[in-house]
Amino acid sequence: RQRVLSGIQPTSDSFHLGNYLGAVRQWVALQDEFEAFYFIPDLHAITVPQEPKQLRQRTLVAAAQLLALGVDPARATIFVQSQVPEHAELTWVLNCITGFGEAGRMTQFKDKSQKQGADNATVGLFDYPVLMAADILLYRAQLVPVGEDQRQHLELTRTLAQRFNTRYKKTFVVPEAHIVTGTAKIYDLQNPTAKMSKSAESDAGLINLLDDPKVSAKRIRSAVTDTEREIRFDREAKPGVSNLLTIESALSGATIAGLEAKYAGQGYGDLKAGVADVLVEFVAPLRERVQRYLDDRAELDKILAAGRDRAREVASGTLADVYERTGFLRA
Ligand code: TYM
Repeated sequence: RQRVLSGIQPTSDSFHLGNYLGAVRQWVALQDEFEAFYFIPDLHAITVPQEPKQLRQRTLVAAAQLLALGVDPARATIFVQSQVPEHAELTWVLNCITGFGEAGRMTQFKDKSQKQGADNATVGLFDYPVLMAADILLYRAQLVPVGEDQRQHLELTRTLAQRFNTRYKKTFVVPEAHIVTGTAKIYDLQNPTAKMSKSAESDAGLINLLDDPKVSAKRIRSAVTDTEREIRFDREAKPGVSNLLTIESALSGATIAGLEAKYAGQGYGDLKAGVADVLVEFVAPLRERVQRYLDDRAELDKILAAGRDRAREVASGTLADVYERTGFLRA
């Protein structure tokens, strides 16, 4: 069976709607057809400062959210990155075939290091995409479901896989990004030309899955639209309205054309009410489901321990091949 792999960082108290529609929803959809590996990249999380207690708690909450959203431990391997030391080990080898300039061209690094001030950005932040390549290549995954913002990192991963395969011998599968058109980039409700992100200046444009549904409904009602009246999908001219249509369509299963017909002759207030309704219906049961997983800590630990063991089984096999091909003396 072909493999699918993806990760989501434990860097906030809740996943946001972009994480779900751009990525986690695809994870759930793919776990039947593929052998699935889904993990929480805590090594990536520390590329920017984290409070230790909070990081540990957020890692648990991330695992609980994956379960509550439908990732099934009977079908998918769910694990925490730092518990599988092969990720850091393969990163070192990949570091040594990655160009300094190549890594420096990653736009996410450029953005994040600029935000932090060049002198505060760490070597870890610079190395982030190489660690991500290691995550993927260790499992010889064919498919990597991610949002649009990870496309360049996937390209680098493919380049490094091909480079290693050519320089030594075929070792890695060259993975494909699985970026679903339509929901690959969910936009900030207040600034609908920027992606929805936990690091936006204000939370007003962010829908956190675990926020009080009333707060989320209010944020939808306050979403920025435009000065026209017509409800139609036009990403260029009407980014706010288009984002709302995308969200309702993704959560309800209705097509964009169907929604345009449904709202014909109606106002933006009606659209927002409609989006808020389907959103609240989706998020309302989530908090309780997540809490139930968190309350049964023994079960959660068991799931993550089984995930770690299975992940290590695969990862250690790939790393052994890499070490052998690299020329390391094996015991
Ligand atoms: P992270 O934790 O920032 O985001 C998790 C996933 O959510 C997607 N995403 C979005 N999709 C649509 N619209 C948005 N506004 C939006 N914001 C975020 C992201 O594209 C991502 O798929 N580097 C990764 C984590 C990672 C990883 C990996 C992923 C580490 N190793 C290996 C795949 C394979 C990241 O920071 O995602």
